[in-house]
Amino acid sequence: MKKIIIAIDGFSSCGKSTMAKDLAKEIGYIYIDSGAMYRAVTLYCLEHHLFRTDGSIREEELQRQMKEIHISFRLNPDTQRPMTFLNGNNVEEQIRTLEVSSHVSPVAALGFVRRAMVEQQQAMGKEKGIVMDGRDIGTAVFPKAELKIFVTASAEIRAQRRYDELKAKGQEVSFDEILRNVKERDHIDQTREISPLRRADDAILLDNSHLTIAEQKEWLKEQFNKAVHES
Ligand code: CDP
Repeated sequence: MKKIIIAIDGFSSCGKSTMAKDLAKEIGYIYIDSGAMYRAVTLYCLEHHLFRTDGSIREEELQRQMKEIHISFRLNPDTQRPMTFLNGNNVEEQIRTLEVSSHVSPVAALGFVRRAMVEQQQAMGKEKGIVMDGRDIGTAVFPKAELKIFVTASAEIRAQRRYDELKAKGQEVSFDEILRNVKERDHIDQTREISPLRRADDAILLDNSHLTIAEQKEWLKEQFNKAVHES
């Protein structure tokens, strides 16, 4: 069967990665979490003291070090889930902390960071057969993707989902802090100059505030089948 590109974009913590991962597994496509790449760059910045005490980024220093940042994905053989590697180290857990979440959006707003990530993402999609989620996949990375989905849900529901997820991992977190982070990232992601978060004109809108994971999965599978037949 002909392979296509599936682009899933949307607001922070709206369950994009769960739906993208599940679909990829079911249809035998590669799943790429583009947010994990921006998170890995952010972790690198934290580890290399590239944030000043006021939270601003030492941009020139980061730009100089970009060629030393190598990000890759490998499948966990037990769970079949992808794990993110930064310079050879598995950072899958570390990139999901609230500390990384609260520093990532300004890093992702930098033009030279985006150019480097987008280039790698486009190379990963060369052979098609890929599901990628993020903020600019349908608009900038793969503007010709055969299937584009734009996911949203209310900020409170998204914060609750992220709260439950971090709690389940044993992290000490406050709901209010997460809600603040979700709203702040939405704002930065939507108002940045380069590739702001927005729905592509040809993306299908999905508000999953009141959908279960199973319902969402079913819906996505239908969209996939339609897109494959039409392409
Ligand atoms: O999973 P969650 O919604 O918390 O975020 P993510 O997908 O891991 O992305 C983390 C951050 O990276 C976002 O808030 C964006 O600032 C940035 N990002 C981006 O700019 N472009 C992408 N394609 C993906 C993520």
